Amino acid sequence: MAFIELNDVTYTYPLMKEAALKNISYKFEKGKFYGVIGENAGGKTTLCNLLRGLVPHFYKGKLKGSATINGEDIKTIDVDKLSTQIGYIFQNPFTQISGVKKSVFEEIAIGLENLGVEKGEIIERVLKIAKLVNIESLLQKNPNELSGGQRQRVAFASVIAMDTDTFVIDEPTSQLDPDGTEAIFEIIHTLKEQGKTIVLVEHKVDLLAEYADEMLVMNKGNLIAGGPTKEVLSDLSLLEKGAMLPHTVLFNHELKLKGVELEHVPVTKEDCISQLKLRMK
Ligand SMILES: Nc1ncnc2c1ncn2[C@@H]1O[C@H](COP(=O)(O)OP(=O)(O)O)[C@@H](O)[C@H]1O
Ligand SMILES: [Mg+2]
Repeated sequence: MAFIELNDVTYTYPLMKEAALKNISYKFEKGKFYGVIGENAGGKTTLCNLLRGLVPHFYKGKLKGSATINGEDIKTIDVDKLSTQIGYIFQNPFTQISGVKKSVFEEIAIGLENLGVEKGEIIERVLKIAKLVNIESLLQKNPNELSGGQRQRVAFASVIAMDTDTFVIDEPTSQLDPDGTEAIFEIIHTLKEQGKTIVLVEHKVDLLAEYADEMLVMNKGNLIAGGPTKEVLSDLSLLEKGAMLPHTVLFNHELKLKGVELEHVPVTKEDCISQLKLRMK
């Protein structure tokens, strides 16, 4: 049995007519990296809420079909226990930051304290993660005084510090510059190498193409594509359905119109370059 199994899941928020998730079926395996893309209001965040049990436990509403995590039905799962297995980095970093702690250090430590981690280890883990996310200089600052990008990195650090087996991460780089974005992707990649399961919602599809094992594409609550990254991102028809595709896929399309055929559709820069080199021989 897969780690997370969604079987014909339809979910409607309270008081809403239209479902935010429509007949979604998918299997998530342990240790894999899943990228989620798709147009605004496609249902990406709602999918994250479901994987973390906030749908239906926090948001209520109507959940149909079957969803299981480690074989347990999401409808009856213990959400507190789930929070020790699945770390969730919210789309809005303002929601994540507790607002009750006086320093960034304490903000990152709060989850570990709640878990009953020993003090010396808390300090060690907070310093380590702060270095990794490049927020060492912020540790003494008041979380309420941070910029959007700084908040985003602190929110990221506070969840990563919990060291859960699975991370559900909703648009972690929306407030970050290209360097900050690259750094976050590198950390996520490292987590994957450590065997963590990752579900990452991101618009920067060129980076997802490099790192994700599988891609899911959401549109108006439907899962319109899902599978191995190369297969999904090679499909030009997704463009008409609000999904962004890697630059190399668009470039390949332009080449094709001009009569230049590559062996296969390149979804990463590296693949594109090696195919062009082959043709030049
Ligand atoms: N808390 C909520 N209550 C009611 N409707 C919601 C709520 N959150 C999201 N929605 C609706 O659900 C749909 C999917 O939203 P969302 O999952 O946030 O999409 P995405 O993350 O892809 O932009 C949208 O139509 C949105 O308006
Ligand atoms: Mg969203």
